[in-house]
Amino acid sequence: MSNEKKELCLSGTGVTKVFGFGERKTVAVDHVDFSFYSGELISIVGESGSGKTTLVKMLLGLISVTEGDIFFMGQKRDIRSHRKKKEYWKGIQAIFQDPFSSYNIFKKIDAVLLDCIHMRGGRGLSKEKKIEMMTEACRFVNLKYEEMTNKYPFELSGGQMQRLMIARIFLLKPKILLADEPTSMIDACSRATILDMLMELRKETGMMIIFITHDIGLAYYVSDSVYIMERGKIVEFGSANEVILNPKAEYTKRLLTDVPKIHEPWEFSKRKRPMTQEERFSSPQPINIEV
Ligand SMILES: Nc1ncnc2c1ncn2[C@@H]1O[C@H](COP(=O)(O)OP(=O)(O)O)[C@@H](O)[C@H]1O
Ligand SMILES: [Mg+2]
Repeated sequence: MSNEKKELCLSGTGVTKVFGFGERKTVAVDHVDFSFYSGELISIVGESGSGKTTLVKMLLGLISVTEGDIFFMGQKRDIRSHRKKKEYWKGIQAIFQDPFSSYNIFKKIDAVLLDCIHMRGGRGLSKEKKIEMMTEACRFVNLKYEEMTNKYPFELSGGQMQRLMIARIFLLKPKILLADEPTSMIDACSRATILDMLMELRKETGMMIIFITHDIGLAYYVSDSVYIMERGKIVEFGSANEVILNPKAEYTKRLLTDVPKIHEPWEFSKRKRPMTQEERFSSPQPINIEV
């Protein structure tokens, strides 16, 4: 993306979250700074417990920020009233790791989708138009609307539930999507599909995706920029190429040594020296994102 076209979409300075008090205090996110631009695909990479989900929840406004500021479209974010929060959520949405916890158990699937249409100001549309939109959204994620109407989300499989989440995003068309390890709790064969659908949706709508993962190899393949998070701190960030092919932080180097030799495992035993990062990632073979 050229510099003049870059539009600051979401940024933060000194963003911090502390849980608990005194001896029992946990600094889950520790003075992080970030600048995310429109249309970018950013990955935030870190091991379990590094503070990724806590950061996502602050960005979404689900939990308070202990210290620091978050800016949305260049303006300091103000979500103090319920009305303002609802307005904010038109622009920023999330898909979480656990599909079961993402739905209100009292809502049927058509009500879930109808809410999205209403949130986008479609309350006054005809019933036929609404059904047409819900059918289209279901078709996009390979679900059949007719089979969904009388079901609850938890009657679906994990993979189907995450696809329904993407159907919601299809209808909501937010400017920013936070995807917090959306594939880590579903079966392997659904994973690639979910990622494909997210990429397709991004192509269609131009939305910015913040992809949260513990998998640095996957981050390399999908993202423009990468932020590495260790124990609540951003220890390194930059373009995916910079960070992964030329890591500076010890922590990033360690994450990279844990990456399985995805491309040429069968050749590895013949090598006289270990592969360099460059070699490891430069194979023309496509990554198998199902691993
Ligand atoms: N509601 C909470 N109360 C207290 N501690 C929490 C809470 N949520 C998360 N934590 C702690 O904050 C740290 C970061 O957690 P989390 O953001 O879930 O990390 P990640 O998503 O990277 O695995 C962990 O030490 C976790 O135990
Ligand atoms: Mg998490």
